[in-house]
Amino acid sequence: MLKNKDIVSMNDLSAEEIQEILRTAEFMKNIVISGNKKAPNLQGKSVVTLFYENSTRTRMSFELASKYMSAASANISASASSVAKGETLLDTGRTLDMMGTDIIIIRHPMSGAPALLSRHVNASVINAGDGMNEHPSQALLDMFTIKEHKGRIEGLKVAIIGDVYHSRVARSNMWGLSKMGAEVVLASPPTLMPLHMDKTGFKVTYDVEEAVRDADAVMCLRIQKERQQAGLFPSVREYFDFFGLDQKKLALAKPDAIVMHPGPMNRGTEISSFIADGRQSVVCNQVQNGVAVRMAMLHLLARRRSE
Ligand code: CP
Repeated sequence: MLKNKDIVSMNDLSAEEIQEILRTAEFMKNIVISGNKKAPNLQGKSVVTLFYENSTRTRMSFELASKYMSAASANISASASSVAKGETLLDTGRTLDMMGTDIIIIRHPMSGAPALLSRHVNASVINAGDGMNEHPSQALLDMFTIKEHKGRIEGLKVAIIGDVYHSRVARSNMWGLSKMGAEVVLASPPTLMPLHMDKTGFKVTYDVEEAVRDADAVMCLRIQKERQQAGLFPSVREYFDFFGLDQKKLALAKPDAIVMHPGPMNRGTEISSFIADGRQSVVCNQVQNGVAVRMAMLHLLARRRSE
């Protein structure tokens, strides 16, 4: 049983709750890969995706997860709703509440928007990515994928490389993976690393080769051109040379290391096409597991609401 009505941060989830979500996702994956993607878990529940930012994977997998479990589901994109007429986030949330929405899944460019919404609505709120802050469902599907390939999370070395500064994926994974006993090493240029990150207890380096050496999993982060001012690195070519994952750098990891990327990928910037499509890449597994993990999150939140 989840203790909170919402999932807005990995910090809200205990190690036991993360384990329960991952265990539940194993059952859900059987539905995702089966020929009959219909389960009754969310019958009688309504789920709304409220996206103020673009998305392919997160929005679609939450929508499919809702439909596979028989929820009444709907989507609101900010540009096609009353948000475009000036309605506030809280008024939109209260409006959805009054319509009987059980679960609101929100993506917003402002850090903290899902947490704010969660305090003002009866519906359960899932953070589908807020600004540079967190992306818990991505971290959970990443942990599920690591566990699926490695059999465990505890004791593994996970290198997270790239634009750490702007990455909500990095932050949620840092909190989640460390809670589950993994060693997390962060690598980026100094201009793309948050100040004082080395004082948080996580290992920080500006040398990708050091981060990747003997890693069990290498997680590449997208260069977030939409969130950064010009001038944080000299050129894409130089960035790729020093921080992009290629064969030479990956050869330093354990021979059976897996390569991850939350997507969408900038091929030739943070990862080479050869590696993205190579035998160690689990990027497609991450996408498939995203549906199963989001089914688990919706199921557990809905069960908490019912009980
Ligand atoms: N990984 C991720 O959040 O992808 P989308 O932006 O396509 O949802």
